[in-house]
Amino acid sequence: MQGEKKVLYSAVQPTNNLTIGNYIGAVRNFVALQNEYDCIYAIANMHAITVRQNPAELRKNTLSLLALYIACGIDPQKCVLYLQSHVPAHAELAWVLNTFTYVGEMERMTQFKDKSAKHADNINMGLMDYPVLMAADILLYQTDVVPVGVDQRQHLEITRDIAIRFNNAYSPTFTVPEGVYTKVGAKINDLLDPSKKMSKSAENVNGAVFLSDDRDTIMRKFKRAVTDSEAAVRYDPENKPGVSNLLSIYSAFTGRDIPQCESAFAGCGYGQFKEAVGEAVADKLAPIQAEQAKLLADKEYLNGVLKNGAEAAARRAGRTLAKVYKKIGFYQL
Ligand code: TYM
Repeated sequence: MQGEKKVLYSAVQPTNNLTIGNYIGAVRNFVALQNEYDCIYAIANMHAITVRQNPAELRKNTLSLLALYIACGIDPQKCVLYLQSHVPAHAELAWVLNTFTYVGEMERMTQFKDKSAKHADNINMGLMDYPVLMAADILLYQTDVVPVGVDQRQHLEITRDIAIRFNNAYSPTFTVPEGVYTKVGAKINDLLDPSKKMSKSAENVNGAVFLSDDRDTIMRKFKRAVTDSEAAVRYDPENKPGVSNLLSIYSAFTGRDIPQCESAFAGCGYGQFKEAVGEAVADKLAPIQAEQAKLLADKEYLNGVLKNGAEAAARRAGRTLAKVYKKIGFYQL
């Protein structure tokens, strides 16, 4: 598996339910890229606790995300699939990288500012340090490419800066990673407010379609989606954000490109269009949900996947961490 293939790394936080934004911007691509790259996919539970979590729910969401990864088509035989907290090297490298990161840089991060506003009663150090832990995740595995949604672009940039800074201070140690963003759907927006990203923690749950939503809920949410008064299914994110967002979703869920989707709905009313988008999403999610439920009933299998994943990840992460410790002058026995 390792060797001539480039290394690909990504992760998702096991918080709440995943949305179709997470699926389109990230997980779908994890599946598509697993043959071409040496893939490592994590469940980022250490990132999740930067916002207060209910412990029982966090545990439940962890297995649920693992089952979802597999149900979506990620093959644990081909990829390393593991839980971040099972590999202590993440916290260890993050500590070192903290000393190569400036407070001002972290204060300027958009996500930190957004989350600080949202969780004003809990602006903890972890929330601010979040991008450094993410840099540690990525750099531990000598990652070449990181498929993520555009909301993570700033974190990718800081990861590159930190890697370059460290490499320049010592000698080449880390591969400097590239972010990979899908052409369609790198930012799926809220159905009720298409100026905002579709988020797991949406204020109004009707603006987000969750991967766990049943057909009726999906159809209802799409029916209510905000469009415009032009009554033309045309891709124009600037002037027609709602319709363009629906077209992106339809394109991602059917595998047809945007012009194909536009012509499929030429002359169609929005009612019919929204129904077709809902159906495409529901049709795709139904088998994933069934498979996820089946997997969740086999905890032994899921634990086995996590155990194997943790071993493989720890082996690889340990090599990078050892190099780092040596370079910075930590005395070795
Ligand atoms: P998270 O859990 O918020 O989101 C997981 C992935 O989904 C993408 N995404 C979206 N894409 C398109 N449209 C949307 N509306 C949308 N919402 C979310 C995110 O960009 C992400 O790719 N910090 C990361 C997790 C992480 C990570 C890493 C990622 C931790 N360590 C190392 C890559 C590499 C996060 O919070 O993702």
